[in-house]
Parts: sequence; C-alpha cells; structure tokens
Amino acid sequence: MQLHIKSAHAALDRQAALVIAVGPDLQLSAAAEAIDQQTQGELRLALKAAGFEGKLAQTLPLWRLSGLNHDWLLVVGQGPASELKPSSLLKMTQAAVRQLQSLHLAHARFTLAELNLAQAEPLDLLAQMARTVLDTSYRFDRYKSKPGKSSTLTQVSFTVDERIPMSAGREALNWAEAVAAGTALARELGNLPGNVCTPRYLAEQAEELGKGQRKVKVKVLGEAQLEKMGAGAFMAVSRGSAQEGQLVSIEYRGGAPRQAPIALVGKGITFDTGGISLKPAATMDEMKFDMCGAASVLGVMRAIIAAQLPINVVGVIACAENMPSSTAGRPGDIVTSLSGKTIEILNTDAEGRLVLCDALTYTQKTFKPSTIIDIATLTGACVVALGKVACGVFSEDDGLAEDLLAAGEASMDLGWRLPVWKDYQELLDSTCADMANIGGPTAGAITAACFLARFMEGQRWAHLDIAGTAWLSGAQKGATGRPVPLLTEYLRRQAYA
Ligand code: BES
Ligand code: MN
Ligand code: ZN
Repeated sequence: MQLHIKSAHAALDRQAALVIAVGPDLQLSAAAEAIDQQTQGELRLALKAAGFEGKLAQTLPLWRLSGLNHDWLLVVGQGPASELKPSSLLKMTQAAVRQLQSLHLAHARFTLAELNLAQAEPLDLLAQMARTVLDTSYRFDRYKSKPGKSSTLTQVSFTVDERIPMSAGREALNWAEAVAAGTALARELGNLPGNVCTPRYLAEQAEELGKGQRKVKVKVLGEAQLEKMGAGAFMAVSRGSAQEGQLVSIEYRGGAPRQAPIALVGKGITFDTGGISLKPAATMDEMKFDMCGAASVLGVMRAIIAAQLPINVVGVIACAENMPSSTAGRPGDIVTSLSGKTIEILNTDAEGRLVLCDALTYTQKTFKPSTIIDIATLTGACVVALGKVACGVFSEDDGLAEDLLAAGEASMDLGWRLPVWKDYQELLDSTCADMANIGGPTAGAITAACFLARFMEGQRWAHLDIAGTAWLSGAQKGATGRPVPLLTEYLRRQAYA
C-alpha cells in the first residue's frame, strides 16, 4: 500500500473513494460541507434518507452523487463534537478502512486529518491515522489454503491543510510506515504457531534484520555457549525442550559512536506449557504468544532501522521453549543465574523471569546501556489487574516511567504504572537459595517485576508486562503488535530530545 499527502484541492481519480466525517444532527465537517455544496445539497439528502446518525465510527458508503467526478463517498460518523478526541479519529479510520475493504476499493482519500482536535498536534494525528490505515489492513492468512479477501487498498492519500507543510507531512507518513512495518512484523511472529516460530526461527528473523545493514550487528548464542557462560536460569527453562534455546542481540548504531545504547530485552518463550508445573489445557494454545516481548523487540528494531533513527539501540531476545520432559527442570531445583545469584525454582511456569534475568545480566555486562527496558508477557496477574487496555509499566526511575507513559499516550498504546517497591521483595524469600522464582498468590505482577529488579540494581531500568495487551482472544484471536507503537515513540523522542 502506498501513502500520499495531498492538498485539499488535488483532483481525485474516478474510482477513488473520498472519506468524510459527519457528526450527529447532520453536522458536516468542512470537507463534507464542501461536498454538499458541490452536489447541491444531495449529500445532506442522502444522509437524511439513510437515517445516518453520525455515531462514532458508523459508516455510510454513497455511490455517484451528482456533481462529483469520483464514484465513491464514504461517510464516517464522528460522534458528538464535544467528545471528539485523538482515539476517536483512529476508530473512525479503522471503520473506514474496513468498509473500503468490504467494497473492494483500491484507492481512497482521507480528509479526517483536517479535523480540529485541541488535544493533539496535527502532524502526530496524521502519523497515527496513517499507521492505523496500515495496521487495519494487516491479515494473518498464510495458513488458509483459500486465502480470504486480502487487502484491496493500494493507494491511500491524506488531505492536509495549511497547518501541515507537505514535506513535514511526508516525513510523518514515512515514520508511520516504519512503525507499521515493525508492528506488522511483531504481529506476524506472534501469530505464527509454536511448531514454526521456534527459538531458532526467531534468531533467523534477527539475522534477517541485519542483512545488508551497515549499522546493524546481530549475534546469536546457542545453548553450548550459554551453558559455558553460566546462564543457569535460562538453561533451567530451555533444557526441557528439543528446540535449542537462543540468546540473540541486534545492535543498531544510528547515534554518536560513544553514546551508550538504550537496550530492549524481550521474553521469547516460543511456547509455554508451564513445564513440569503444567498449565491446564483450556486456552493453552494462546501460549504461542509467549514470545510477543521478543517479537516486539524485533518489530522496534525493524522500525528504527527503516526510519534510520539517530540513536544507538540494542535489542536482546531470550528465546526458549518451556516444555515438560525428562530433561526439564523440576520444582525445587536450585540454579545459579549468570549474575551468580541462586534461585530456587518453586514453579516451572514462572519461566519468563528465569530467561529474562540472565538476558538482563548479559545485556548490562555486554552493552553497558544507559537504560534497559524489558518487555514480557510475564504474568496472568497483570491481565487481572489491567486487562487488555494498558500494559503494566514498572520502574523505580520516575523519569523513565513518565517518559514511557507519555509515549504510550501519544501513540495510543497505553501503559499504566505499578510499583516495584522494596516492601514486596520479602515475598520472594527462599529458605535455601538467594530467592524463589515465585512470590505466592498475591501481587503477582509486582513480585515478578521485583524478581527482575534484583538483577538490575544500580541500572536505569523499566519492565513492561504485556501479558494483557500483546494479543486478543476468542473470535479476534491474534497478536496486536503492542507495544511497538509505545516503544518506537519513546525512542523517537529520545533520538530527537
Ligand atoms: N506466560 C505466562 C503469563 C501469562 C499467563 C500471560 C496468561 C498471559 C496469560 C507466564 O509464564 C506464567 O505462566 N506466569 C505464571 C506465574 C506464576 C506461576 C507465578 C502466571 O501468571 O500464572
Ligand atoms: Mn509460564
Ligand atoms: Zn510464560
């Protein structure tokens, strides 16, 4: 799909659809008003005849109104003007794309970017809208022997008014395309089943990102190296699977040579059975999504490489499969992590923190980052706390936490802060090792973060628990690509700070 910027006067080809917003009681947006005049009031009549209510994201396609030299008008409800906010614009965009696709249209022009929204920068809105058009066109149909109707939209343009200079608009679209490509990669990897998306597969995807890229260096460590290095916590998980675990780093050097990188560390459990502490069968299939943290790291790396962001970033993904087998770790096992700290594994289903603690230590020692952010589908408790709306944001550093929350709001990929207070640490006490890997029945998302915090002392660090936001269940089952929008926005702000 190609995206373009157009001025409001630019001609539209015959087959294209013009997307215009209309509120309740036939409140026409400026673009809709212009069309009404051009059609000598036929638009208003058509809206009345159809009983169009102007509810948020309601759609009404209209064909060949007189006085227009393009076939289609797509009217999108904008809801009451007083309730219009940036996220409404995205809902309208999403609904419009779905409608355009069900009409099998190839060309469309969106006028929505001109809507006046006090709370948002027009350029940011344009970028979010463009990203939404691309995200809504994503399909996961490679395993359907008869592929469903794939996206028909090939050309989408956005009209902008004088608040957005053409060149700045084009730049916003380029950024949107980079973020959408990263989000699509994260979704695709998340959606791939565990029999395809193995630790080795993720490592190959990382290597793919580095191909022909001068600023990118990819390194893959296999189990022999991890064992030798002393990554006992990682190996306690990975040893139960026939699939070889992989610890992968992707270094992107777009910034000053001496600038310490920002590190992103992703949980990449390609399937989480729970191990010997086996999970119940119902919805266990969704544990193919347990590598969405790693997928989001790869997605972010793809986006910033595409956008050539002027910043140094290193992505590290801890890839392993959590299986029950005769070589699997058992409840009660005591292992020594890469940091030297010992862990009593009381539940093999709390495996994410085990692979992550070694990945965090490795990242800190190898890359000496200024900031480390880990991303993990870490706890069911976080889903209970925040549902599918916001991811959990944990950090002892107020500035870092605020920057992440702000980036989430700006990219409409929300996070919400939860504490990592020392008061919770005693829940992780073990009778025979430095710590246990679970904290008991209460505050599960927090104790998981507290476990990781023990490996990040003195390091500027944040943890994102994306267990609720990384995928949708039921009829809409599929990866969301979150938090690629949040993280790319955070990095963009850091790069241009
Ligand atoms: N991958 C799961 C977390 C998860 C569960 C995410 C359900 C999304 C939906 C993680 O490895 C896990 O199993 N965590 C346990 C931890 C517990 C044993 C302390 C959990 O949340 O139940
Ligand atoms: Mn688990
Ligand atoms: Zn898991």
